[in-house]
Amino acid sequence: MIEIHNIHKSFGDLKVLDGISGVFETGKTNLLLGASGTGKSVLLKCIVGLVKPDIGSVTFDGTYFTNNKLGIRQEIRRKIGMLFQSSALFDSMNVEENVAFPLKMLTPDMPKSERLDRVNFCLKRVGLENSNKKMPSEISGGMKKRVGIARAIAPECTYLFCDEPNSGLDPLTALKIDELIKEITEEFNTTTIIVTHDMNSVIEIGDNIMFLYKGKKLWEGTRDNIMETEVPELNEFIFANRLMRDAKKVEEGEEGSHHSS
Ligand SMILES: Nc1ncnc2c1ncn2[C@@H]1O[C@H](COP(=O)(O)OP(=O)(O)OP(=O)(O)O)[C@@H](O)[C@H]1O
Ligand SMILES: [Mg+2]
Repeated sequence: MIEIHNIHKSFGDLKVLDGISGVFETGKTNLLLGASGTGKSVLLKCIVGLVKPDIGSVTFDGTYFTNNKLGIRQEIRRKIGMLFQSSALFDSMNVEENVAFPLKMLTPDMPKSERLDRVNFCLKRVGLENSNKKMPSEISGGMKKRVGIARAIAPECTYLFCDEPNSGLDPLTALKIDELIKEITEEFNTTTIIVTHDMNSVIEIGDNIMFLYKGKKLWEGTRDNIMETEVPELNEFIFANRLMRDAKKVEEGEEGSHHSS
């Protein structure tokens, strides 16, 4: 379980995070939802420790992280797997080397054969066996995300963070990536935080959802109650899309909302 308490962050005059608190549960896919520029990535970076909050704290399974001793922070960092917004694979390394990279960094004493076994296990888990020697330039966007996930979970992470894991993918591939992250979360009991602005992800994998708006948490709930929200800013966000508006009309039992194709 990860807890954040009263996180504030400004860059110069720009207040990005304005006092955000909340809990991210273990074994669940916890979503940070919001429009572009609301501070989702900044909040994720505050949680991982890539950005230091001005005020506020982050706790990992009861261990205080934010201003703790370097050794303790490093211990927690070791348990974090991260999938960056653009996959961020190393272009000069093949698939196998990309996934092996964090193992070499974090567990340099691991025997080579064991490392290769772990790499192959992770690649198989994301459905990418037999692609070890391919270069990032030779694989599709969806495959790159899979390699990114394999690399994130390679060091047996306890905490998994994904920033827009399905952006730039077609809807079906996006769904598969979402499902994969959810499966991995349940299988390895990770505390997973996913940054997204995608309503499809919300409906598919939104175990817990925090809606951010202008640096504040305006709503939290689950995929089962998000459609009934009374928060105007969240309603506007959800129903920006015609398909979602139609779905709501159908739910409310309105006839005449049916569009033939
Ligand atoms: N290092 C930084 N220095 C200055 N401003 C920053 C920095 N990082 C982020 N910001 C600003 O903070 C705000 C929130 O950025 P953030 O990247 O968190 O948005 P986001 O919600 O992740 O958006 P998107 O959905 O487009 O990725 C933006 O106005 C951005 O310009
Ligand atoms: Mg972002």
